Formats: sequence, structure tokens, C-alpha cells
Amino acid sequence: MSSKGIILAGGSGKRLSPITNAISKQLLLVYDKPMIYYPLSTLMLSGINDILIICTKESFALFESLLGNGDKYGIQIQYKIQDRPYGLAHSFILGEEFIGDSSVTLILGDNLFHGNNFINQIKNVISIGRPTVFAYQVDDPERYGVVEFSSNGDVIRIEEKPKSPKSNFAITGIYHYDNSIIRKAKSLQPSKRGELEITDINNLYLKENLLKV
Ligand code: TTP
Repeated sequence: MSSKGIILAGGSGKRLSPITNAISKQLLLVYDKPMIYYPLSTLMLSGINDILIICTKESFALFESLLGNGDKYGIQIQYKIQDRPYGLAHSFILGEEFIGDSSVTLILGDNLFHGNNFINQIKNVISIGRPTVFAYQVDDPERYGVVEFSSNGDVIRIEEKPKSPKSNFAITGIYHYDNSIIRKAKSLQPSKRGELEITDINNLYLKENLLKV
């Protein structure tokens, strides 16, 4: 069965204000291309050609005039508006109808992936169909979801923005899930910061022994 892709491109972009008061962060140029071209290319190179872009009400018309319905790239693009930044896991509730009975790969609209065989790794994950997230070693893990490993290297859990990180492996902004993602997202309660947390989803999959990191 085909796998679908979601690009999450809403949010408030406060760290890049004031330009983000006027224009969506994911439309700003990175070198010579709008930022969203990079995650879009990652999905396309991974063989995903049915894509939902989630964005704010204010930026919808801009994304649509940039990318249209995807015809010019030989893919299908649909759009969904997120009224406020309600968390990364909100994507799967907004995307319920779009996902249907497929598996889904979520990529954050401001994440650029590059490196050794990365696209082949994503392709593999999609063809095996196993829920998978990717970790990367960073110097400032307290800003991310951080992986906690057991002494034999198994993943125990993922902690969101921990004050005392248990490793320096941060979860990156690309996630592949099976269709149970919709049910899992709907079962979440908002966190203390008022968001539906993707880390809570990942921990649900880990409890079921289903998540590969
Ligand atoms: P964040 O880094 O959490 O948010 P942001 O980029 O808007 O940043 P700032 O802290 O500067 O205000 O989000 C990561 C990506 O996910 C980014 O592309 C925005 C997007 N996003 C949404 O589209 N909706 C959401 O509800 C959240 C939390 C993020």
C-alpha cells in the first residue's frame, strides 16, 4: 500500500521574528530555495507522492501559490489549516481523512536532512512499514526529545526537553508511523505547555515494543 506524507509548516516562528510576523518561516530562503522545498524534496526522493501540507490560515495562500496542487512536480499536494500551534502530534488528527488507511511519514517544514544514504534509509523504513524515528547526536539535547538507553543499548524511553538529558541523542523531525497513529494521536492529552506531544506518541509505540529508533 502507498505511504502518505505530511509536512508540518505552521507554528509561530518566534525565534526568527520580526520577519516571521509577516511571512511563514518555512517560506524563507535557505540558500536559493524556500525552506519548505527541502523537506518536500526529502519526501519526494523517498517515493512519497501524496502529500498534505499543514500551515497557518495566514500563510495558506502563499504556500498554494508556490506549490499549487503538485501537478508541476508530478505529485499530489493538499492543504490543511492549523488554527494554532497545538503540537506536532496534532498533525495526525488534522490529517485523519488524508491518511485514510495508509501509513504516514511526517516531516517538519523547517527540518533539512542531508547525509550518508539518508534517503535509502527512509525508503527502507517505508517499505518495511515499521514505525521509526531518527536520532542525531547534538551538543544541546535539553532543547529536544532525548533518547534514554538501557546499559545494553535498547531504547527505554524518550524524554521531552529534559533538564538532565540521559544521552545526547535528539529525536529529529522525520517520523514514520503505521495507521494506528490516528488512534494514538486522538488518545493524547495536552502537555503542560498545552501541546499534543509527539514524544508521548513515541513512548506509546515504545511501550508496545513497536518503535525503531
Ligand atoms: P517549533 O520549533 O516548536 O515551533 P516554531 O518553529 O514555530 O518556533 P518558535 O519556537 O521560534 O516559535 O516547531 C517545529 C516545526 O513544526 C516548525 O516548522 C513549526 C511546526 N509546527 C507546526 O506547524 N504546528 C505546531 O503546532 C508546532 C508545535 C510546530
